[in-house]
Amino acid sequence: MENILKKYESVTPSDVKVWFNAGKTADFPADGGGCVKYKDKQIAVINFERRNEWYACQNLCPHKMEMVLSRGMIGSADELPKIACPIHKKTFSLKDGSNLSGDDLKIATYPVKIVEDEVLIGFMD
Ligand code: FES
Repeated sequence: MENILKKYESVTPSDVKVWFNAGKTADFPADGGGCVKYKDKQIAVINFERRNEWYACQNLCPHKMEMVLSRGMIGSADELPKIACPIHKKTFSLKDGSNLSGDDLKIATYPVKIVEDEVLIGFMD
């Protein structure tokens, strides 16, 4: 279990070495998400249209190791964008992946930029 989680590590904008083209903006439903694969990682891409923002995080929910976060529910808590796992509703910050449910679980997040209508996700390698 530990090994699966190890491959997910948050990336900050200054860490980015590779911008991966995840698809067109139209490929991702408004106020919803989609899942893309980058190397051996599944990444949830969130088109948070209500906030006019995009986010990317690991698709893996660390609670029961389910690949489900791209189908999570998005919302805002005190201005902080968040995503709730569709299974047991554990909630994570989309900004830094921290857990907002009071557990010791967190998720990796990745920078996203939109260039023309392409969705680019930043990785370290
Ligand atoms: S599997 Fe995601 S909260 Fe339980």
